[in-house]
Amino acid sequence: MEKLVGDAKHILKLNWKEGFTIPTAKLYPFQWNWDSGFTSIGHSYTSLDHAVKELDTLFSSQWENGMVPHIVFHSETETTYFPYYDFWESNVNPGAPNKPKSSGITQPAVHGFVLENLLEKFPDNQQLIDFIRQIFPKIIKYHRFLYTYRDPEREGLMFIYHPWESGRDNSPLWDESLERIKIGKGELPEYERRDTSLAPVDERPTAYQYDRYVYLLLLGKKFLYEQRGIFEESPFLVQDTLMNAVLIKSNQSLINIGKRFGLDTGELEEWQQQSVRIFNEKLWNPSLNTYTAYDARAGHPITYKEIGGMVSLYGEIPNEQQANQLNDYLWSLHERDYFICPSFDVDSPLFDSKRYWRGPIWSQMNWMIYHGLKNYGFERTAEVVKADIIELVSKHGFYEYFESQKSLAANINSGYGGGNFSWTAACVLDLLKS
Ligand code: GLC
Repeated sequence: MEKLVGDAKHILKLNWKEGFTIPTAKLYPFQWNWDSGFTSIGHSYTSLDHAVKELDTLFSSQWENGMVPHIVFHSETETTYFPYYDFWESNVNPGAPNKPKSSGITQPAVHGFVLENLLEKFPDNQQLIDFIRQIFPKIIKYHRFLYTYRDPEREGLMFIYHPWESGRDNSPLWDESLERIKIGKGELPEYERRDTSLAPVDERPTAYQYDRYVYLLLLGKKFLYEQRGIFEESPFLVQDTLMNAVLIKSNQSLINIGKRFGLDTGELEEWQQQSVRIFNEKLWNPSLNTYTAYDARAGHPITYKEIGGMVSLYGEIPNEQQANQLNDYLWSLHERDYFICPSFDVDSPLFDSKRYWRGPIWSQMNWMIYHGLKNYGFERTAEVVKADIIELVSKHGFYEYFESQKSLAANINSGYGGGNFSWTAACVLDLLKS
């Protein structure tokens, strides 16, 4: 275990770039929004300074409308990434900062709970307290963006308009929405993917999916990244479980922090009440015994059992009975041939234990599910979730994602995607120390 802790700290140091951390060299050479949150928690074990700076740097890219972009391009000279800042052209929106350059979409709002996690570790640290006072209003502004522009009908659930926003890029959840997008010959500009020359093709999204990612990017750009037009026209419009569960968790963390420091939490409490209620009313699926995302363009639920629904435990959204059902499901996977928790329903024909978000194990998801299970006192399952990711990392290294089927994992020597991965190092480090 000591070696794992040392390796994790070493990776975080290796990927630290003067103020922020790259997820992994080459494949993701910039700052990613939700990666930064988890990475900040990891840095806190060696340098609170880095932990704070990571978040501070991320928020230096916040747009005037409050959005925190999913990628911040701190360097304008890389050659290994597509789509780069010159393809996004986010400055078509007058509220996007000119420097640092950024993408035009967002990612899960982890920052509130990350801040609370840091505060639990350093409850009386003056540097952290000063930082909290400074960043608190910026995070609220971000949540306000989500509740205003991404929830124009004031339902209490935010929408996403691009699979990349969900953090689960090629999950089968998005297949139906993507199929709605018909692309005529010559309609897309020519582009060259970089990910498939840096990681095996069968572990990455397909060309069909990638064309649709580019299409949706260009749709955002067509509307100058103004949310109203996107809401009205995007063929992809989803109220996702994970996005909303993370937002709810962060609302609660900000409420807790605000109460401690005497900061105004009125707006947060209103959002929170409404969101928790509608999440339960609209997203709970009594036949599947889990929460499912809602396709707001088609007007029906996306009825798959998958990992986003499990994150509701972290947001303390389910009641006891619902939580029991989620826990039973996770435990049943453990009793079969799986590490927990695979990113997609192992019994679905769309399950693919090796392809990115269609089945593999992801460390940051295990981290959230572990804490979610602990919230409800499911110690036994929580310990398996923790032990599984530690076993995978010990055997295969600090990869981006891992084989979820035990019998297959036994015959391979590495994980999938990028190596020396920051949030894997951060989450495993934190789990080892907890
Ligand atoms: C992939 C993941 C996304 C992550 C990014 C950087 O796109 O799907 O969740 O933020 O890589 O690690």
